[in-house]
Amino acid sequence: MLTLLKLLKDGRFHSGQALGAALGVSRSAVWKQLQLLEAELSLPIHKVRGRGYQLSAPLSLLDEAEIQRFSAGEHWPVRILDSVDSTNAEALRAVDQGIDAPLLVLAERQTAGRGRRGRKWVSPFAENLYYSLVLRIEGGMRQLEGLSLVVGLAVLQVLREQGIAAAGLKWPNDVLVGKRKIAGILLELVGDPADVCHVVLGIGINVNMRSTEEVDQEWTSVQLEAGKQVDRNQLVALLSAQLGDYLERHRAGGFAAIQAEWEANHLWQGRAVSLIAGANQVDGVVLGIDQQGALRLKVGDVEKSFSGGELSLRLRDDS
Ligand code: ATP
Ligand code: BTN
Repeated sequence: MLTLLKLLKDGRFHSGQALGAALGVSRSAVWKQLQLLEAELSLPIHKVRGRGYQLSAPLSLLDEAEIQRFSAGEHWPVRILDSVDSTNAEALRAVDQGIDAPLLVLAERQTAGRGRRGRKWVSPFAENLYYSLVLRIEGGMRQLEGLSLVVGLAVLQVLREQGIAAAGLKWPNDVLVGKRKIAGILLELVGDPADVCHVVLGIGINVNMRSTEEVDQEWTSVQLEAGKQVDRNQLVALLSAQLGDYLERHRAGGFAAIQAEWEANHLWQGRAVSLIAGANQVDGVVLGIDQQGALRLKVGDVEKSFSGGELSLRLRDDS
């Protein structure tokens, strides 16, 4: 089915006969595959009598040679999949199989893209980036401290390079434009964090997505904000370059070297918030983050720090 899509990706008309010949199947088999493509990938395909079939817009697919062409910084070994449950899950399976890290896993779509606490990450075909980088960590806890916040900064710089000046960070791991979510980050870890372990840096960036009914909170995309279609291969190269730089700074100086820059980009600095952990809620005012990346809140007259993957921050109505 995806071979057929690749024949159509230029956005031009292709006759059923030519497509059938290229695939070695009959014209009616081509027609059936086209119907499946439309249904499974939500890609509108136009049919015009006498001319053939055409995608409603040309499609740019992920391509290692293209990524390399745009690369100025890091170019890690990459595995590109047409479809996968989750690039993070695939990366974890690769660790299980004993692959060498670093390894980058990318996919055109995810059928079970995941966010924190088992939430769903909406991942339509060929529109966004689903990016998981596997790293081997040998430096113990220090190399993990604040790591997801560091990844957030790298993503933020990529968005700024695209002209999205209003993008900012929300502790711990969201990238927002105003109230709208444009990217999410999910780190997953295997092994012993005090000794040798692998961490998967999972990043989802909404790139060319313009509509979806599926996301149940306010969202946006690079295209919606920057007003232009974005080359995803170029974005992969830019993201890898930024990640390479930030990971190096983090490795050399720990999170303390990055703390001030993170705070300067925190959208909710000084705001009144509620911190939610399951059924518990703490109300306070955001003071910043500490040298480990924990959130510092002023609760009444007392300063308290909070960390952990199960925490969610919400703005208070009176903030
Ligand atoms: P918090 O960290 O405060 O709980 P959150 O509500 O954004 O923030 P996360 O677990 O970080 O929760 O992210 C998952 C949520 O992101 C989903 O529940 C959904 O509301 C939203 N979401 C899913 N897919 C997308 C997408 N492609 N773009 C933007 N938002 C999405
Ligand atoms: C969140 O905001 O909760 C985190 C979302 C992380 C989504 C990315 S997309 C690439 C990688 N694979 C996944 O299944 N999740 C992350």
